[in-house]
Amino acid sequence: MTRTRIAIIGAGPSGLAQLRAFETARQAGADIPEIVCFEKQANWGGLWNYTWRTGLDESGEPVHGSMYRYLWSNGPKECLEFADYPFERHFGRPIPSYPPRAVLHDYIAGRVERSDVRKYIRFKTPVRWVSYSEESRKFTVTAKDLITDTHQVEEFDFVVVANGHFSVPNVPHFEGIEHFPGRVMHAHDFRVADEFAGKRLLMIGSSYSAEDIGTQCIKYGAQSITFSYRTKPMGFDWPEGFVEKPLVTEFRGRTAFFKDGTQAEFDAVILCTGYQHAYPFLPDDLRLKTHNCLYPANLYKGIFWLPNPKLIYLGMQDQYYTYNMFDAQAWYARDVIMGRISLPSREDQAADIAKWLADQDTITNPFEAIDFQTEYVRELLQATDYPHLDVDKVAALFKEWEHHKMEGILTYRDRSYRSTITGTLSPPHHTTWMKAMDDSLEAFMDLPQAAE
Ligand SMILES: Cc1cc2nc3c(=O)[nH]c(=O)nc-3n(C[C@H](O)[C@H](O)[C@H](O)COP(=O)(O)OP(=O)(O)OC[C@H]3O[C@@H](n4cnc5c(N)ncnc54)[C@H](O)[C@@H]3O)c2cc1C
Ligand SMILES: NC(=O)c1ccc[n+]([C@@H]2O[C@H](COP(=O)([O-])OP(=O)(O)OC[C@H]3O[C@@H](n4cnc5c(N)ncnc54)[C@H](OP(=O)(O)O)[C@@H]3O)[C@@H](O)[C@H]2O)c1
Repeated sequence: MTRTRIAIIGAGPSGLAQLRAFETARQAGADIPEIVCFEKQANWGGLWNYTWRTGLDESGEPVHGSMYRYLWSNGPKECLEFADYPFERHFGRPIPSYPPRAVLHDYIAGRVERSDVRKYIRFKTPVRWVSYSEESRKFTVTAKDLITDTHQVEEFDFVVVANGHFSVPNVPHFEGIEHFPGRVMHAHDFRVADEFAGKRLLMIGSSYSAEDIGTQCIKYGAQSITFSYRTKPMGFDWPEGFVEKPLVTEFRGRTAFFKDGTQAEFDAVILCTGYQHAYPFLPDDLRLKTHNCLYPANLYKGIFWLPNPKLIYLGMQDQYYTYNMFDAQAWYARDVIMGRISLPSREDQAADIAKWLADQDTITNPFEAIDFQTEYVRELLQATDYPHLDVDKVAALFKEWEHHKMEGILTYRDRSYRSTITGTLSPPHHTTWMKAMDDSLEAFMDLPQAAE
């Protein structure tokens, strides 16, 4: 009998979770399927693999990265901690609750380095196309090896789509923006806040990117930040230097006009208007079509493509939970692939999706959204042997975090939380976030700096 073959598209936190799930089963003595993970970048870590590049990369591929220098975790690390790999184990000591990007990348990489999964990954190999044959009941995956400049075409029994959904920017048009005499960019292309020191910035959007890029630019010396919202303001108690306005109606020169009849001049505009779910390698009948939400339609358990559950999507939800939710999904997907969990009939899957979608429709605030995603993660965890994760404690931390943001949008990152895995309370950071200008791992960990 031929071995089951699995293709994983992407070696970011979601794809790595899938690799780790299988490797854990292998180490426990299971006979796992043959796995190939295709990754278009030269290294793992997905968005956490920082690049200075924007536009196209060194191979002419669209740059995946949307993260920027000086990006610090926007939620407590205790909320994303892997149940099978606590921060304390990785770093050998407790660390503060809000690490910068390089520290989180080190943590993600440390877990997979120790579990020996690099051998499954083909780096610099973007997947170009996936098709499914009803006759052979297999997927054909076409990928390009960017090093040898050749295409690979192979058959697989399952395909796991883990390519992320915060890389293809959503870029609306505003009247007159084409004549704005300054920098106009999407958050996807934002890299270094220093560029905006002394500038008056307009951020369009009212979600995490607007909030974080805006606060970061003030930290690095921007003169003022104006947020322009479409639906509702973020509503934080903004310190001096920040203002929230309704949506821009038009630009004339460097002046923006807002829906409330006010106007103001700006030096630069950053569109923090979110991202599109994009799967350019999937045909219409396999392709998820959704906006950024907690429960995309047509995915049973938020994972299995209803018309063909051998196509698996990981991490396609809007995210309160991140790394440990990807683990919960990956462990569940592994157990379905390995026959440890049976999927119900198509009708029952559809009914289950409908129930979640109806619940999602009733959500009116972030606290209910946290509860919704907590129940989702809980349900997945209950079905597998993923190590114990106390989601009620994680949910409580998320809610505390929401309160801390309301109490101080520039100070919430100075707070400490208790690990739900080890019980340890994080130490405070040696420097408050507003004063911590160096985001390197060495500075954060108070280690000797590498020589220039
Ligand atoms: C600006 C920003 C800041 C964030 N900050 C936080 C934070 O502080 N805390 C937090 O928990 N989460 C944060 N997130 C959320 C983030 O989505 C998750 O942490 C995590 O990176 C998602 O993992 P993923 O593997 O699903 O997707 P990604 O990290 O996007 O990884 C997808 C991988 O797929 C690869 N890929 C894409 N297309 C192909 C292809 N065709 N073929 C082969 N490989 C492909 C990519 O190169 C990439 O390596 C942030 C997101 C953004 C955009
Ligand atoms: N670590 C960090 O510090 C950090 C920093 C940045 C981002 N992130 C992560 O990145 C992910 C994406 O966040 P995001 O803020 O980029 O996207 P997002 O959460 O999807 O929000 C998109 C925003 O764009 C607005 N928008 C969309 N179309 C618009 C239009 N035509 N006109 C005006 N506004 C429009 C939306 O407004 P409506 O409300 O009206 O829909 C919303 O405010 C999140 O998971 C977040 O956690 C993390």
